[in-house]
Amino acid sequence: MTKIAIWCRHQGDNLIGIGTQIPWHVKSDFQRFRRITTGQTLVAGQKTYESFPGRTLPDRKIFVLTQEEGYEVSDPQNHRAVNDIRFFKDYEGDLYIAGGASVYRLFMTGGSKLLPDVVVDCVYHGKLNPDAKGEPVVITDCVNVLFEKYRQISSDYELDDVTTSVWIKKGEFVDQNVLKRIVQAIEKGME
Ligand SMILES: NC(=O)c1ccc[n+]([C@@H]2O[C@H](COP(=O)([O-])OP(=O)(O)OC[C@H]3O[C@@H](n4cnc5c(N)ncnc54)[C@H](OP(=O)(O)O)[C@@H]3O)[C@@H](O)[C@H]2O)c1
Repeated sequence: MTKIAIWCRHQGDNLIGIGTQIPWHVKSDFQRFRRITTGQTLVAGQKTYESFPGRTLPDRKIFVLTQEEGYEVSDPQNHRAVNDIRFFKDYEGDLYIAGGASVYRLFMTGGSKLLPDVVVDCVYHGKLNPDAKGEPVVITDCVNVLFEKYRQISSDYELDDVTTSVWIKKGEFVDQNVLKRIVQAIEKGME
């Protein structure tokens, strides 16, 4: 099993959301996320899941982390509610950790068994949407773990106000096929 965290954070403050929304719209960033995750299995917190249009993402399986008893997913064939993070410890397939902050935090700061093998770090350096309303959602603690425990293995890919790079855990081997697929998905957007 390979665990991959993928996020887009705002440069400087590591903000990933305001209220329930991402306060920028960069089409190529959404497309990159779609290319990397299509056909894969995602882990999303309940808030993030409910922010997906129609509470779904086509062609992906989704584990929804929630504490709500009997939580009803929109597509029971492809989505499943999970109440306990321990479920993922022995999970055999690859997992793409798609946020939000509480879920990144669970994996990035929750102990070595959960630490993602790969992080796709997208950094947005444009302006925030001034109309966004709600509490800022910030992942500085996760970014600190990234800088401390990971090493960058790709170039910096610059596109439309977003710098993307791929990182792996220091001193560990990662499935080369997974890495190759991720890098190809990023580079496809650069063509
Ligand atoms: N920029 C990006 O790349 C990106 C990506 C994804 C999301 N986001 C943004 O992130 C924000 C949402 O982040 P968030 O942290 O507020 O919410 P979230 O992580 O999406 O979801 C929080 C939910 O997950 C549940 N949960 C968390 N850990 C759990 C566990 N161990 N077991 C069971 N349930 C668990 C929480 O339940 P309890 O509250 O009951 O504990 C809560 O209902 C939004 O603004 C969204 O747009 C940004």
